[in-house]
Amino acid sequence: MLIQNASWIEKKNAESTVVPVFRRTFSCASPVRNACLEVTCDGVYEAVLNDRRVGRFILAPGWTEYRKRLQVQSYDVTELLQEDNTLDITVANGWYRRTNAPWTGTRNPDEFLPAMAIAALRLSYADGREEVILTDERWQVSESNVTLSGIFIGEDADMTRSLDFEPAKTCDYPKAMLIPQEGPEVHEQETVYPGRSFHTPKGEWVIDFGQNLTGYMAFELTARAGERLSISTAEVLDRDGNFYTANYRSARSQLHYICKDGHQAYRPRFTFFGFRYLRIDEAPEGFTADQIHAVVLHSEMTRTGWLESTDPMLNQLFSNTIWSQKGNYLDIPTDCPQRDERYGWTGDGQIFCRAATYQYDVRQFFRKWLADMRAAQHDNGWVPDVVPSLTAYKPGGAGWSDSVTIIPWQLYETYGDISFLADMYPAMEKWIAYIPTVSTTPDLWTGCWTYGDWLALDQPDDWVPADMEQAKRGYSDDDLVCSAFYANSVSIVIRAGEILGRDVSRYEDLYSRITAKFKATFGGKLNTQTEKVLALHFGLADDPQALADVLAEQIVACGTHLQTGLLGTPYLLHELSRYGHANLAWSLLLRKEYPGWLYSVSRSATTTWEHWDGIKPDGTFWSDDMNSYNHYAYASVADWVFGVACGIQPAAPGFARAVIAPKPDARLNGLSAILDTVHGRIRSAWKHMADGIRYEIDVPVAAEIILNGESRKVSPGKYVILVPDES
Ligand code: BGC
Repeated sequence: MLIQNASWIEKKNAESTVVPVFRRTFSCASPVRNACLEVTCDGVYEAVLNDRRVGRFILAPGWTEYRKRLQVQSYDVTELLQEDNTLDITVANGWYRRTNAPWTGTRNPDEFLPAMAIAALRLSYADGREEVILTDERWQVSESNVTLSGIFIGEDADMTRSLDFEPAKTCDYPKAMLIPQEGPEVHEQETVYPGRSFHTPKGEWVIDFGQNLTGYMAFELTARAGERLSISTAEVLDRDGNFYTANYRSARSQLHYICKDGHQAYRPRFTFFGFRYLRIDEAPEGFTADQIHAVVLHSEMTRTGWLESTDPMLNQLFSNTIWSQKGNYLDIPTDCPQRDERYGWTGDGQIFCRAATYQYDVRQFFRKWLADMRAAQHDNGWVPDVVPSLTAYKPGGAGWSDSVTIIPWQLYETYGDISFLADMYPAMEKWIAYIPTVSTTPDLWTGCWTYGDWLALDQPDDWVPADMEQAKRGYSDDDLVCSAFYANSVSIVIRAGEILGRDVSRYEDLYSRITAKFKATFGGKLNTQTEKVLALHFGLADDPQALADVLAEQIVACGTHLQTGLLGTPYLLHELSRYGHANLAWSLLLRKEYPGWLYSVSRSATTTWEHWDGIKPDGTFWSDDMNSYNHYAYASVADWVFGVACGIQPAAPGFARAVIAPKPDARLNGLSAILDTVHGRIRSAWKHMADGIRYEIDVPVAAEIILNGESRKVSPGKYVILVPDES
């Protein structure tokens, strides 16, 4: 890359919060055939050539394991060139210099770096000459109109400020970590207009977009210089209908804009917000709701999966799972897009991964994130709980660090692309080699830190947790949960190794020892729902059918509701339906009361919530602390709807062959799924008719269709089959 010849240039006053803009003016004396700009920064930048934005990448260069990998973007800027040119690169903090949330009590060393940019512009003239413009001391720097900016803060802009350029200083910052762009770019994806504008009981002026979304607000207005527009964001209103921001915790998440004279349009360029509501805290006289709109941001990815049913509430749930993916696939897979986290929590990443691969083509998205996971993995093999990693964090533990095995395996299953396994295999091996170095019991994973079955609802009423964190970890045995995930990761290493042609005999021996010891140690202690589900899902039960039957009884006995947390929930419906309890799985899916997937829908949710009772039946909140309304972990249920309710299963990696085995339920009239696989579109739909259930199945590959226990082998084609109602 040409950029390796350029020098980093830095902002003048490191203490100032004002975002710098670097400028280079140049002339092209003769016609230019092609012009290419390579650029990156230690923050997020916007490059503008002759007043026109370069490229469409918002929040470039994205978030990576910066000290090892910093993406460089290359843009074709031929069309933007003139004879006399001004190239501006504005560099804001972004993720680089505000990564640890204040509540972690620590700061990343990178936070103390000044804003810096590095760029190379190659001009290829029509007459064959080449000219290269590099960042160096010929560039200028000024404070920009953006006076404060941060991922959690939002943005302040003062359009009355005038720019005052002086020579920029070069600096000696490493370039070894510069890599070409790998991930899909984050783009502006769609526009959402205000649904209604109203005043709350407290008298706040609030605009409702009708959809919880991730992106930013954009507006147009005419004003006098110095007039202000201040906007706060919120996901929900409180019980009384007032604006509620406490769940953002320390994330200020506001926009403060000081107008210039005349007509103007603005959108924040260096941050994003998670919101459904905007509160207009201050506005120039005459400002109205129709002067503002919301712009949805997410990584570029093609939609591949669609679910539709005859039940509007279920359809809303399907829509919520899509919006939670859009809202949290912003350069990295985040836990939530609004409060002071927005981190790449590895556990959440793997929990939702299967559903994500069905809803969108996420190959490129994960390829980049998995490369960051490899870069973030410590030499001794531990995989951090968040990727890109933060200094404040620790090994992720069961179900979090195991994303290093689970995610590549899922990508291989959905897309049939062996390179995910090949790329990750050394990291997988390193991870399972790490566990015995910290475990207190050979062939199990015990005595270690873990997030447990995070947010489970299985604590006995009289249980007194040591602290809030313990309370959130549920009642499942940590050693059991860890050991189950250890077995699963080793099993993936074996399967992946076989596909890659490696000698896996030592892992097979290890796996036999783990399973035997697991059964001997925990077989009689599978108490909580999650303990049972994990033993079933990871093949660790002596008598799976009997265990599944007990699980089903346990669920019914506690009021037909789940008690599983982040680790148990994604597998729960799968295990119930696998062992003949599809009816119960459907009951859980269709449950409208807390805790159930349709409860949040009944509370007007437009994205999936972190907590089943984020808003309680009386309208109060579960808490201010851990209360995201855009968390995709429980949206993982979409993979059961595709894979079991509509029955679309891969019979070979990438759906090169398929099994279609839908499990309809009498409480739902009809359901349909479309899945665009790498081998073509699969469609599986069913509908209750007067004389039975009508199935419509399209398969682009050889498939086995299993309806009501009866199997038929079919060639690629479209099939309509009526199965008479047996009842
Ligand atoms: C996140 C979770 C995450 C967890 C770790 C939370 O703050 O939002 O989704 O996995 O921490 O337990």
